[in-house]
Parts: sequence; C-alpha cells; structure tokens
Amino acid sequence: MLPTLTDLLKRLEPGDRVFLRGDLNVPLKNVIIQDTNRLEAILPTLNDLIQAGAVITLATHLGRPKGIDPDLSTRHLVAYLEDQLSVPVTHVSEFPPGSDYQQSLSNQNPGSILLLENLRYDPREKSDDAEFAQLLIAGSQYYVNDAFGCCHRAHASVSAITRFKPSFCGYLIEKEVAALEEVRDRAERPFWIISGGAKVSDKLGVLENLVPLLDGVVCTGGLANTLLHGNGFNVGDSRVEPECLSSVTELLSGNVEVVLPNDFIAGDEPFYPTETLTCDSDNPVPEHLSLFDIGPRSVEAICQKLSSAKTIFWNGPAGVFETPEFSSGTREIARFLATQNCKVVVGGGDSAAAVRQMGLADRFHHVSTGGGAALEFLEGKLLPGIEALSRSPGFDTEQH
Ligand code: 3PG
Repeated sequence: MLPTLTDLLKRLEPGDRVFLRGDLNVPLKNVIIQDTNRLEAILPTLNDLIQAGAVITLATHLGRPKGIDPDLSTRHLVAYLEDQLSVPVTHVSEFPPGSDYQQSLSNQNPGSILLLENLRYDPREKSDDAEFAQLLIAGSQYYVNDAFGCCHRAHASVSAITRFKPSFCGYLIEKEVAALEEVRDRAERPFWIISGGAKVSDKLGVLENLVPLLDGVVCTGGLANTLLHGNGFNVGDSRVEPECLSSVTELLSGNVEVVLPNDFIAGDEPFYPTETLTCDSDNPVPEHLSLFDIGPRSVEAICQKLSSAKTIFWNGPAGVFETPEFSSGTREIARFLATQNCKVVVGGGDSAAAVRQMGLADRFHHVSTGGGAALEFLEGKLLPGIEALSRSPGFDTEQH
C-alpha cells in the first residue's frame, strides 16, 4: 500500500509546504499547449491541496531539452493552470531553486502555487542525483508524486527525492495503479488485448507478461504486418520487424486466440499520401505501397470477436490515425469499444491520444496518462517512482 494524498490531507495544516511532482509534459507547438490531458489529470490533486491551504511547489519536466531551451520553459503552462485553478501561479525562473525561491516560498499565502522551471534543464535530474533532489525539496515539508507518466524513470524528482521528506502518491497515481493492476493481476475473462502501433519490439514485454492470462490477441499495426509477412503474405513496402518474429510466434502459439486483419488501406506515405488503395489477398498491395490501416472487413471481424470480452487492454492504434485516410480502423474500433459493457483500459501514448481526440475517453474504464510507464507496469516491472514511494517512511520520520 502506498502512502496516499488522503493520508497526507488528514494531517496537513494550512500553510504547510508541499512539493508536488506532476507529469505536465504536454506537447507544445510554438509554445501553445496542444493537448491538456495531463494537465487536467493533475487538477484533482492540486485542487485538494489548495483547499487544504497548502503552499504548493509544483514541478515537472517538459520535453527532452538539451540544456536550457526557452521553448520548453514551464512558464508556458502558467496561464492554463491559473485559468483552471483560479489561484495565482508564480513561475520561479531561478533554477535550480535557491535563495530567491526560498524567499518567495516563505512569503506565499496558503493555497498558492510556485511553479518551478523545467526540471530537465539540470542534467542532475536525469541522473537521480541526491544533492539535486535535496535542493528541490528544501523548504518543503512533504513530497507528493502524481507524475504517473514519469514513474518508470529513476530521476531525482521522482526517485531520490523520497529519501528526504515524508512522501505520498497523488490521486492520479492511485487511479492509474488501481486500473492497471486490475488488468495485470485480476482481469475478468474473457480477456483480450488489441496490440497495434508501429513498433513490435515495444509490445513484446507486455505480451510476454500477459499472454498466460489472455483469451485472445487482436493484432494490428506493426505486429500484424510482421506476423503476416512471416506467414508469407505480401505486405508491400510495410515496415516489418523480422527479428521479433520468432519471439512473437512462440508467444502466440499457446492457448490464445490470435486475430489478424485480412483487408487493409495501403498508401505511398504515412502522413501526406498521394496514393491510397484498399487491399486484400485478392487485391495484393503493390510493392511501392505500405499497409497503413486495417480495412472494414477486418474491423467487423475484430469487433465481433471482442463483443464477448469482459476485459480489453488496448495498446496502440490500428493504423496511422493522425492521417484521415488511415484513421478509420482506429476510429471504428474506438466507437465500438465505447458502446461495450466491458472494462476497456487504454494504454500507451498513441491509442490514448486517439480516444481522447475522438472525445471518447470518458466512455472507457481507464485511459492511462502514461505511455512508457503504463507499458512497463503491465510488463510486470517495478517502476522506480512507485518503488520509491513504497519505501518512503511516510509520517514515520516526519521532518518539519
Ligand atoms: C512521457 O511523455 O511518457 C513522460 O512524460 C516521460 O517522458 P520521457 O519519455 O521523456 O522520460
């Protein structure tokens, strides 16, 4: 059991200082936020800390900067947070935080927020440096991690930092862990996975861990192309990963039903196609085209198979859903799943983005905010961020 925000709130006094690590790593285009999902996901934790009168230091990384990159400054998040939370959010430009930050921390009113600069501006964040972690937490009495999407990273603000102050998980981590544990440890059967997306190698770990619990696997995307290619089916110029073929074939050779698509939308280019074609075994894909989506007959067969499932984990879109010409497989599957009376958990960055873009996220049991973190969790790995929280002394060594 992880120490939770609820445990902390029982003890928190107005004016207590809380360091909150979020995963506010949102896509920016010309410094404009493109997808607010991860910001929305941390609002419940922030709102309850504000209500409790905490003085909050909020910290996140943003992108993968090489040194200081003004385009990836957390100051671009201030307006959104102020708008949603209706409290002042002060951006701390001094980084790493030092005396100016300490000064402003002591001047804060209960229920206010100081937003630190992009944690990855300092290389010590990624090396899990204990001194850097101490610099971050200095001045705060408690640490809360609500950055589920970063829990697979042993970084200073996620891992080393829990050594120094009583540490708790936020509501988002609690929710993510509960939903993913349900899939990993006690999925109601029939239990199916829809495995898609471009890279087969990314899917192997999850399949390896979950296959013994599964009733069926729907293969789309790179996994389907690789298996079809291995079966001698012509996949044209599609990307395949032959080096994964024997592991996948062995994994799927047990007591698990495997569904492969049998019609496709092919194109010359994934994002701006000038040529598209519907293909199947009677109308083979030409050598210069690649399979970028599944076709309507495959969608129908897949939905039919999934209609008796009680639990479904969806990892990876069926095609290049960002491109209208190749989006219909993913859209149709999402629409179908949204109407089913079964637990659907969506994980991995792209399939989650697809259901959110379609406005269907609230129709699913859970849509994870973590790409890599959700997958590593389902691979059965112990995530460093979760492990660090579970090792935390909680209130036992409370230091004010
Ligand atoms: C993510 O986007 O998956 C998390 O924010 C972690 O980011 P990273 O892959 O750059 O560590």
